[in-house]
Amino acid sequence: MANESRTIVEQQKGGSVGEDSLTIVDNRTGREYVLPIVDGTIRATDLRQIAGPDGDHGLMSYDPAYLNTASCRSAITYIDGDAGILRYRGYPIEQVAEQASFLETAYLLLEGELPTAAELRRWQDDVRTHTYVHTNVQKFLEGFRYDAHPMGMLLGAVGALSTFYPDAKTVTDPANRYLQRVRLIAKLPTIAAYIFRHSRGLPYVLPRNDLSYIGNFVNMTFEIGGRHEPNPVLQRALEILLILHADHEQNCSTSAVRGVGSSHVDLYSAVSAGIAALYGPLHGGANEAVLRMLDRIGDKENVPAFIEEVKAGKGRLMGFGHRVYKSYDPRAKLIKQVADQVFAETGLNPKLEIALELERIALEDDYFVSRKLYPNVDFYSGLIYQAMGYPTDYFTVLFAVGRLPGWIAQWEEMLTDPETKIARPRQVYTGPDRRDFVPLDRRG
Ligand code: CMC
Repeated sequence: MANESRTIVEQQKGGSVGEDSLTIVDNRTGREYVLPIVDGTIRATDLRQIAGPDGDHGLMSYDPAYLNTASCRSAITYIDGDAGILRYRGYPIEQVAEQASFLETAYLLLEGELPTAAELRRWQDDVRTHTYVHTNVQKFLEGFRYDAHPMGMLLGAVGALSTFYPDAKTVTDPANRYLQRVRLIAKLPTIAAYIFRHSRGLPYVLPRNDLSYIGNFVNMTFEIGGRHEPNPVLQRALEILLILHADHEQNCSTSAVRGVGSSHVDLYSAVSAGIAALYGPLHGGANEAVLRMLDRIGDKENVPAFIEEVKAGKGRLMGFGHRVYKSYDPRAKLIKQVADQVFAETGLNPKLEIALELERIALEDDYFVSRKLYPNVDFYSGLIYQAMGYPTDYFTVLFAVGRLPGWIAQWEEMLTDPETKIARPRQVYTGPDRRDFVPLDRRG
């Protein structure tokens, strides 16, 4: 886009106004401005030239929580929140989840296209080469208390990888970025499995490169005495869940990765910021919070009373609601199908009954209907993870393993976008005006 077309054109009397433009009248000055509209957006920086009568610094847009602000251009994931549509690089999530492997999905997100058979083999081989972690990472993990939260351990361990790979600082070199990308995708399951075993006081199981990405992860987690009989249904179910979590455009953790990465820090530090964001109960931590909520409710009979508490503002219905989806989260639909397959293997999770009743009542209740609150990805995933043998505080670690390719794809896109600058929002200052410092003995 030519620079000229980006700036505000103060409308000349009789001048023509293009169709893709917005006319603004500043009632403070009576001046009229025409702003170009590109891809359904106006540039917030265009507003700067709209100065008030006293010649201030120009208008800013105020948008805490980015409710209506696009922070980047992205070609990775498409969401239509009203229609419940999610696509990775144009492919419907339903098709990707049904037909792709996790590493194939990662390749698609990272490279923009589905791999050919040869490309997939090379990608799998690259990842396999890097599954081991330095033994000092094990020692580092041993320093955590036995009851340390797995997400705290994960964000610490991933951040610490930056000290093992100082070459990762060269973020402007594409070959170097590729190496760090492969390293992190290869090592995250190893670290995640070590964390699982640390919490149980079990010895670490080394990666087995004869197994698939998911097969190796499950084996490192659950192997006891050199044995683990993999259940192909549960393994594929886990793979589908990770695929469903692989990217979700500019969510809180992805924005953290992009924002922190925009300072040109290494990938491990940027992803560790993403893990920290994911940890929170309003984001990835919701899957853990859902299970704790179901535990608290305890019985299907208590559901109506619980719903009344939520409506009275005494807490939220965790696993419900979404900033973007204003209809049923398409991932939640797929997860419900996965749940049927998993529970056919493991037997019903007794908490499922409570969850189904919560969903039934909430979907009929005007409080939830009028606010367009539907189950999100986290509502049923925890029940499945629990049936697979994962403890509640570990669920968000699984979310992180799934989300990693998305974080890296978005980081790569951010670094290679010529419009990227260090993330640095503006503020509306609301503090005191200038005043003179008061020495300690004259205060009070
Ligand atoms: N239970 C009860 N009321 C809710 C809920 C909920 N789960 N979510 C939103 N509301 C109400 C909220 O109180 C507000 O009502 P009012 O207009 O009367 O003040 C209205 O709905 C709009 O809510 P909001 O907080 O302005 O919406 P948001 O877009 O800022 O928040 C959300 C989105 C996901 C943080 C929120 O829906 C929520 O807290 N959900 C529960 C936590 C959860 O499940 N998080 C996982 C999100 S999906 C996966 C992920 O991101 O990791």
